[in-house]
Amino acid sequence: MASPELLFRGARVVDPRAGFDEVADVLVKDGVVADVGRGLGGASAEVVGCDGLVLAPGLVDLHTHLREPGFEQKETVETGTRAAAAGGFTAVAPMANTDPVADDASVIAEVRAAAERAGLADVFPVGAITKGLEGEVLAEIGEMVAAGVRVFSDDGRCVPTARTLRNALTYALAFDEAVIAEHCEDASLSSGQQMHEGISSFSLGLAGQPAAAEDAIVFRDIEMARLTGGRLHVCHLSSARSVELVRRAKSDGLRVSAEVTPHHLVFIDEDLRTYDTNRKVNPPFRAASDREALRQGLADGTIDVIATDHAPHAVEEKEAEFDRAPPGTIGLETALAVALTELVAPGILTLPRALETLSCTPAGILGARDHGGPIEAGRPANLVLFDPDERWIVEPPFASRSRNSAFLGRELLGRVRFTVLHGELTVSEGKATR
Ligand code: NCD
Ligand code: ZN
Repeated sequence: MASPELLFRGARVVDPRAGFDEVADVLVKDGVVADVGRGLGGASAEVVGCDGLVLAPGLVDLHTHLREPGFEQKETVETGTRAAAAGGFTAVAPMANTDPVADDASVIAEVRAAAERAGLADVFPVGAITKGLEGEVLAEIGEMVAAGVRVFSDDGRCVPTARTLRNALTYALAFDEAVIAEHCEDASLSSGQQMHEGISSFSLGLAGQPAAAEDAIVFRDIEMARLTGGRLHVCHLSSARSVELVRRAKSDGLRVSAEVTPHHLVFIDEDLRTYDTNRKVNPPFRAASDREALRQGLADGTIDVIATDHAPHAVEEKEAEFDRAPPGTIGLETALAVALTELVAPGILTLPRALETLSCTPAGILGARDHGGPIEAGRPANLVLFDPDERWIVEPPFASRSRNSAFLGRELLGRVRFTVLHGELTVSEGKATR
């Protein structure tokens, strides 16, 4: 199928990588950006009028759970990448906590093949750090690097010992760009706990875990990065202390990066007062002062990336009592709007900074060279066009197979209109094309 020629006319083109933020036309042809400028023609092109709309590099999610293989009742590669496209994402990195675990090249190949069949987003599977996520023996990291994997994580679980993490960081050093991404959680402080430990956990009668469960491991892991010179990425930061530890590590020149989720930038422990299991997430929502530090850390560059941690769970699983429900919220379809509503509109982040954290920087960490801009002639056409002013309510139906959103019922600002993957529309006029 020949891809259509598309002319985006008069969009606000925001390209953080090239430092470009101007009204322009963008012509897409044969899978690439053919031209950027004013008054572009394109005799055979389908013209998309973009008055008041923003055109940006397609979003890139560094932390997604697509659940395939093994948990197809929650999500599949196809439904998850359809949710990604609906949210303006052109690339996602699915975590390894599937069944079987993605701890060798065969599972990586299986996930990639499913993604190819769906054709809705470029998929960059994350490999496990340890076999079976069991925290003991290193996974087939070399084999997976050879198969093109760049990021390794036991997400869902923390690497249990400093020694194993040290070995992983050291081993990954042999491969230029390999990144060890950690879910930082001291299980001895957190296991069996339902939320953040504080006044809210006491008043709700739910067992709480202190922020120190994260902080202690962030500290340990940064020391292992210092010891080895290895490349560490800290997943879903939730506490003020962790932000401060990452800030210091960076000022010491260590190779450390960090992410925060949209939901941790919005919710705090008090938001669990309705016992809404969709707001049960790992790590848990913490104090207002932690949320403030996360926002500040994102604004000042301490935190590099907004990653969704899209964690679909089936309705029956989330309908259990609070202490039996699995942690996680879906996030691909709301991430951009949450950032626009909660960060850009109040002036915490500029629009270019928000898009940098949602696209350019995660693309760099992932080695997704076709993504994250710049929007220039000859570059692969992976783009999102959104209306920054449209208001909408988060409610089903979702493109995701699951509906466990922490944002259900909330009004958000900013809606995806078109998503372009290698020159083809995966979303057109706000609707999935396939
Ligand atoms: C994740 C999941 O469901 O896989 N859940 C979550 O709340 N973040 C795993 C995890 O990191 O705990
Ligand atoms: Zn995690």
